[in-house]
Amino acid sequence: MSKIVVAERLRKNFGNVEAVKSVSFHVNSGEIYGFLGPNGAGKTTTLRILTGVLKPTDGKVEVYGMDVFKNPIDVKSIIGVVPDEPKLYENLTGREFLEFVGSVFSMKRVEMNQRVLELSEAFGVNFLSKFIGDYSHGMRQKLMLISVLMRRPKVLFLDEPTVGLDAKSAKILKLLLRKYVDEGVAVFMTTHVLEIAEKMCDRIGIINEGELIAEGTLEELRSYSGRESLEDIFLKLTGGDEIKEIVDSL
Ligand SMILES: Nc1ncnc2c1ncn2[C@@H]1O[C@H](COP(=O)(O)OP(=O)(O)O)[C@@H](O)[C@H]1O
Ligand SMILES: [Mg+2]
Repeated sequence: MSKIVVAERLRKNFGNVEAVKSVSFHVNSGEIYGFLGPNGAGKTTTLRILTGVLKPTDGKVEVYGMDVFKNPIDVKSIIGVVPDEPKLYENLTGREFLEFVGSVFSMKRVEMNQRVLELSEAFGVNFLSKFIGDYSHGMRQKLMLISVLMRRPKVLFLDEPTVGLDAKSAKILKLLLRKYVDEGVAVFMTTHVLEIAEKMCDRIGIINEGELIAEGTLEELRSYSGRESLEDIFLKLTGGDEIKEIVDSL
């Protein structure tokens, strides 16, 4: 097992907002690392730094030993990123978009078509001839997933990947990710949904108000906190006991 993504003391300030406060962690090959936290915790900001989209105020990110900001092209050729709200070209059809991505990454036509066919079948995608401008959030999410997975990246970064997916597609994604990590791929994914982290991730980092407040396998997190469910751990760590009381009393 080797460290594929290494984040060291990442910080990001937006004006006086400290969105990320000295966060360090790593993602191993062959694992799905879940970044779990409530809304506004700093998940998307961290993912954008990890993928070279956003420069950190401080800190360093390495992917396969390469500095993300010093070797952007090399890093981008081996990673795949599925943002939470993909920016897509509204005036292209899904297929045109995939062809564009394929040409940017110099994919062989035959291989690309085969991968697109397999992935479209897996996710029940039958709308590639339609314009992206007419897609729902879930359809965009699926197109983005196909455009990334067809390239077989060595490292995947997914921001809230199951939001907008139907249950069947979410299950397929889970199985596909597991297959890729078994082949040595490293996955970093964010989620605000506990159940997703529990079901999909091998290790979980809990982020709250820009700080990584706990990290480990589900078992480790349970033993640290002495509590049973991840929900309790999560609510305790993120100060949500109050919320639980409110919900329980409804
Ligand atoms: N571009 C930006 N400009 C100013 N503030 C931002 C920007 N992006 C994020 N933030 C702030 O940083 C914090 C973390 O946001 P974000 O990383 O999107 O959280 P999450 O993805 O965990 O919901 C929030 O307080 C958010 O308002
Ligand atoms: Mg987010």
